[in-house]
Amino acid sequence: MYLGLDIGTSGVKAMLVDESFASVAVAQAPLTVSRPHPGWSEQDPLDWITACETAIAELAKGQGAALARLKAIGLSGHMHGATLLDSADKPLRPCIMWNDGRSGKQCRTLEARADFRGIGGNIVMAGFTAPKLLWVAENEPDVFEKTAKVLLPKDFVRLWLTGEHVAEMSDAAGTLWLDVARRQWSESLLEATGLTIAQMPSLVEGSDVSGMLRPELAEKWGVPQVPVAGGGGDNAATACGMGVISPGTGFLSLGTSGVLFAVTDRYAPNTDEAVHAFCHAVPETWHQMGVILSATDSLTWLSEITGRSPADLAALLPERITEPSGIGFLPYLSGERTPHNDPDATGALFGLQRVSQLPDLVQATMEGVAMAFGDCVRALRLAGTEIEAAYAVGGGARSTQWLQIMAAVTGLTLLQPEDGDFGAAFGAAKLAASCATGDVSSEVFAPPKVAGRIEPDADLAEKYLPHYSKYRESYRALCPLS
Ligand code: XUL
Repeated sequence: MYLGLDIGTSGVKAMLVDESFASVAVAQAPLTVSRPHPGWSEQDPLDWITACETAIAELAKGQGAALARLKAIGLSGHMHGATLLDSADKPLRPCIMWNDGRSGKQCRTLEARADFRGIGGNIVMAGFTAPKLLWVAENEPDVFEKTAKVLLPKDFVRLWLTGEHVAEMSDAAGTLWLDVARRQWSESLLEATGLTIAQMPSLVEGSDVSGMLRPELAEKWGVPQVPVAGGGGDNAATACGMGVISPGTGFLSLGTSGVLFAVTDRYAPNTDEAVHAFCHAVPETWHQMGVILSATDSLTWLSEITGRSPADLAALLPERITEPSGIGFLPYLSGERTPHNDPDATGALFGLQRVSQLPDLVQATMEGVAMAFGDCVRALRLAGTEIEAAYAVGGGARSTQWLQIMAAVTGLTLLQPEDGDFGAAFGAAKLAASCATGDVSSEVFAPPKVAGRIEPDADLAEKYLPHYSKYRESYRALCPLS
């Protein structure tokens, strides 16, 4: 048995799989995000532990016999969160999360101080960890002074599980303090932020052992004292779960944020279009990502203001989409990363008419998100990565209408995996298996079977072309409003 634990933005998911990677049980516990000021996004690190305890206790209640045969645990979590600990490993403030936009000014300062683009492989963006630490240094100097260690969210959970300060390459790359080509901390990037290597956890590969489960926890849950794998940031872990570990493969994730992920066999940055270039969670492998900040979160926003659930909203659309809605939507509700790198960008709805109805707004929302993905396909292409087909994963991929729109706008063939749960917790369980067995081959990381393919509809694609041009122009035109 292997256990994958994913610290997601909206909840912790614990997934127990057997040796053939069939799901045995899944338990979840919710998490909330606090937004004390516009653009801020925070979580209390202790809530992650409580949620993990709840989810694992639930597994222990129903799956005691299976848990007794546990061989390893793997971790995954939302990336880039700044979790600041004092010298007694106590959190000094809430974690500043991946979708927090407060540090725009600090990004510019860091870019001027060191070669973040060359060594770190990325534009310094407000979501990444480094500028958040500079924000803390400038705005909460007491907290900065007391910071003994900076951990990523899943690595704080690891500290609780094992007592060790350890990070792994895929998530560490998202701090912007990693020398991404060499897979080691960069002293110059840390120094530019006023930090030293002593404040960083040690580094392992995602498929390596990072520590052993503490005996107290092993006893409490009735499991052996198993190794905990390095694991991966949620996107790299999802890739591991989908068998996306060799160059030429990729996935498109329609979760709270949207991600277009492609594997590369070397460090291949393209900072011009705000492409992310990070290490993968398996050795000697890297990846590129286009990241949009509000994917299903755009539909969640519409759901909140209309008082209808996202599933109810999606059900308002006809089974087959044959015409564009005619309404423009910019999904920049939490700023945007790829391709604009603009934490201050704002959303917009335009082209409304007196006859516009709620189903039109739902379709427009899906179209806006699809166009943002169109920008990601373009950005990755400019970075030398051609993708023709990608697995579609995440909550939004349950809507075939959204996938039809997505395929027509992006030109990608979208592959629907066979029924099952192939998210980050599943990938974390696979990384647990490779740490227990030493196997990092495609035997462990086999892709799921393809249950369905959504090809771009040529007619619809042609109808969307002028809309996509207008979408691209409108960001620039509407920008001064934000
Ligand atoms: C990736 C990113 C998000 C988070 C959320 O760079 O910020 O995908 O990992 O899960």
